[in-house]
Amino acid sequence: MTKQLALITGAARKTGIGLEVARQLGSMGYQVIVTARELDRAEQAAQLLIDEGLDIIPLALDVAKEDTVKAVAETVDRRFGKLDVLINNATEFPDQYHTVDVDMAAVIRAFESNFFGAWRMIKYFTPLLKKSDNPRVVNCSSGSGSLQGGEGEYTLVNPWRDFISVYSLTKLAMNGLTMKAAHDLEKDGILVNAPIPGMTATYDILADHGGRPVSEGAKSIVFAATLPKGGPTGKHFKDGKIISW
Ligand SMILES: NC(=O)c1ccc[n+]([C@@H]2O[C@H](COP(=O)([O-])OP(=O)(O)OC[C@H]3O[C@@H](n4cnc5c(N)ncnc54)[C@H](OP(=O)(O)O)[C@@H]3O)[C@@H](O)[C@H]2O)c1
Repeated sequence: MTKQLALITGAARKTGIGLEVARQLGSMGYQVIVTARELDRAEQAAQLLIDEGLDIIPLALDVAKEDTVKAVAETVDRRFGKLDVLINNATEFPDQYHTVDVDMAAVIRAFESNFFGAWRMIKYFTPLLKKSDNPRVVNCSSGSGSLQGGEGEYTLVNPWRDFISVYSLTKLAMNGLTMKAAHDLEKDGILVNAPIPGMTATYDILADHGGRPVSEGAKSIVFAATLPKGGPTGKHFKDGKIISW
């Protein structure tokens, strides 16, 4: 039987959630395409998991560049003929604090990667997902983009820190994209969900503020990536439980 194939964007940071999701899916028998903007970073990250005995393929992919996304979709189609799981993990954390005192160019850059990047990936990879028996799209969201969120989660208007305001808005938009894409792709059997990992210790500042281990945050994403055929779609999850948008 052919292996399930997953692709993860922005998965090269050693302490990032993306690489850990690749590790967990690889351990479950998936073949995983680990991507990063620069090929050498994707290769180095992939090698760490290949050395652990996992089936990992590195590819260069910048989700902010439309031509690159299109070209990578063509490459994956040529080499594998399908995609089972698309994980939109790539994210910029812009250093912008305020809705008025703000550098709009930085805002647009953040939307290019976090929101339009995920949308581009869905656009160009849907034909490959349609060739899967159980296609899933996972948009890695954040409680900071939620209107109500889960119990004890920070939300859009109750953020952990002011400096994540632009980031939060990109995730709010991603949540809307999730609902709309789930609706549009339901007839093709494609599940589209937006799980949140919860505050996770992928950076020192997050570890210092009680972020949970990366393996735990990643599990929340893996749940949505491994949903069975006919499973829930258009939902916001944390730790396998549906939460409010
Ligand atoms: N950590 C948390 O507490 C937390 C909480 C809620 C939600 N999340 C979500 O979980 C996901 C992973 O978070 P993380 O903390 O693991 O983040 P991370 O380590 O910073 O990983 C994000 C990756 O995205 C890459 N990236 C940025 N722009 C890109 C582009 N245009 N094309 C391709 N890759 C791009 C970055 O590349 P570089 O390495 O080159 O910068 C980085 O490696 C994100 O979607 C985040 O919003 C995280």
